[in-house]
Amino acid sequence: MSPAKPADKNKRIAIIPGDGIGQEVIPLAVAVIKASGAAVEFTEFDWGADRYLRDGTTVPPDGFAMLARDFDAIFAGAFGDPRVKTNLHAKEILLGMRFRMDLYANVRPVRLLDAALCPLKGVEPKDVDFVVLRENTEGVYTDAGGVFKQGTPDEIATQEDINTRKGVERIIRYAFEYCKQHQKLDGSPRSKVLMSDKSNAMTHAGGLWQRVFKEVSAEYPHITAQHMYVDALCLQMVRDPRQFDVIVTNNMFGDIITDLAAGLQGGLGMAASGNIHPGRTSMFEPVHGSAPPIAGKNLANPFGAILTAAMMLAHLGMTVEASKIEAAVLEAVRQKKTTQDIGGSLGTKEAGAWVAEKVSRS
Ligand code: NAI
Ligand code: MG
Repeated sequence: MSPAKPADKNKRIAIIPGDGIGQEVIPLAVAVIKASGAAVEFTEFDWGADRYLRDGTTVPPDGFAMLARDFDAIFAGAFGDPRVKTNLHAKEILLGMRFRMDLYANVRPVRLLDAALCPLKGVEPKDVDFVVLRENTEGVYTDAGGVFKQGTPDEIATQEDINTRKGVERIIRYAFEYCKQHQKLDGSPRSKVLMSDKSNAMTHAGGLWQRVFKEVSAEYPHITAQHMYVDALCLQMVRDPRQFDVIVTNNMFGDIITDLAAGLQGGLGMAASGNIHPGRTSMFEPVHGSAPPIAGKNLANPFGAILTAAMMLAHLGMTVEASKIEAAVLEAVRQKKTTQDIGGSLGTKEAGAWVAEKVSRS
């Protein structure tokens, strides 16, 4: 645990815009935070592809310890650049923060702000209001495995799926606690936790998830515990997203189903996320990546980053500022003061500035 931070001071936020559209959307989201009047101070870091190509640095020595020690939260853009074929910098910075800072809960709210943004017929904002809690520190993303006899007809590749009792238990417990502590947008309580896996085919890891889910759910008798295989979940998410409330799953399934879920809320440009370890410095980032095809063209939707900023402020206890920001984004969507991907005609900067202006007047 990092030492307790003084409560009467401004919250300190580390900004890491990263690559591609991260460099466009993060400064706009920072401007929106400033417009909200939140008591925060920012320090920017240039970690990303440019820095890596310039001097070989991905994360400076002591970088993760510094973030945990000196900051209350981290606000990151995206990492990935076509000039870095190995994606080494992205792996070291992004997976580094998630793994080395042990940010085990990847929290991805899925909310439809306006019916016009959902490709499904007859689906209203009230019908899409769930959250996916993705295990963020193990699974198939630990890089365990290897390649043997590469380049020969006998080549063998293995990718290990690591599931620890501790890792599975803490994310499942996080899901039940999240369900207990969070309400839906309309103020009604959350009441269901659904665990999704592929335990019919992946019996060893799935068996562990099943046993732990059964044990932990017994401690929360007022919460309905449900299970769905991940393939069935994909079908149901498209057929009837109304049924979902809190979903908990492993690292890879969480990655995949949240892109699908983003499709329900207007695409990747609208999706927010937090990488959280309760009590520690946590990291907040839009779900999208660096989007090289649209980078530098003033096309990227800044709302995913702006909604992520609101999520970060709420996490830091600044719920009034967070609500102001969410309300302004909602208004922008309703008035079509948005980028093209969600039906407006504004550029990235103009859409961000519209929200900042709205927030500063609220
Ligand atoms: P991506 O999310 O960067 O973009 C996919 C496509 O979605 C884009 O080409 C664009 O058409 C659309 N899109 C994404 N964000 C948008 C926005 N804000 N506004 C409007 N349209 C948007 O995913 P992709 O293409 O798979 O990855 C590109 C690079 O980003 C890769 O290097 C990848 O490794 C990296 N990446 C990084 C992530 C992170 O830092 N958390 C997450 C996902 C990918
Ligand atoms: Mg993804």
